[in-house]
Amino acid sequence: RIVKISNKDGERVLQFLRKFFFMDEPLNIAVGLLDEPGSTCSELEQYCIDSIPDGVSFMAVNSRGEVIGICLNGVDVRGKSEDEDSKNFECTNPRFGKILGLLQDVGKQSDVFGQFPDVDRMLEVRIISVDDAYRGQGIAKALIEKTRLEGEKMGIPLMRVDCTSAFSAKAVARLGFHCVYTLQYADYLDKQGQRVFDPPSPHTCCKTFVRHLN
Ligand code: ACO
Repeated sequence: RIVKISNKDGERVLQFLRKFFFMDEPLNIAVGLLDEPGSTCSELEQYCIDSIPDGVSFMAVNSRGEVIGICLNGVDVRGKSEDEDSKNFECTNPRFGKILGLLQDVGKQSDVFGQFPDVDRMLEVRIISVDDAYRGQGIAKALIEKTRLEGEKMGIPLMRVDCTSAFSAKAVARLGFHCVYTLQYADYLDKQGQRVFDPPSPHTCCKTFVRHLN
């Protein structure tokens, strides 16, 4: 069952993401975001919570009512991205700051609003996470499809996902999204010429995918 996430679900969402996404998203692994069991990242928690008020996020729930997947989405409006960028620079956690820096660079270089000049609003999938006991069963695809249908109901013309994982990239490609930008992690270097991220195989790149909505 897929249900909409409401403002009162914040703690339930975070409990799930602390157990899965915070531990197993490829870039979180690469930077060692949580190096101590039971620790958390308050900056990532805030990043997650910030999307909920947009009212376009969904969770998958099993027959016992337990959360088994989360898809946090937000609406991006043309002209507002500069404000988002300056917010990213204020991040005080250096490990999470690296990830925000990459997402910001991908946002600039993919330049989706520039590629689609007629689009004024985009529905963005920001966080997708499935309980590891339920992976490979189409739950991520179902959450993304539900998000797409919601975007269509709202009259939003385009949907966007920055996939840091090879598996989320596979899911959206299957759903008819097309890739408009790729950043190879091996090419993403710091000022000293060192690789910033070396995530586990098979995650080699961050890809921006889009899909037009009806
Ligand atoms: N090995 C090989 N293929 C896999 C694996 C795996 N471990 N996991 C998923 N896949 C494949 C699926 O078979 C499917 O391909 P198919 O259409 O050819 O069958 C595709 O990848 C995705 O299918 P779903 O079953 O819909 O995906 P799932 O419910 O397993 O969730 C997700 C995918 C969310 C990426 C999950 O692996 C996860 O939670 N990973 C950790 C967190 C993460 O990396 N999130 C994405 C970051 S990007 C972002 O958040 C926007």
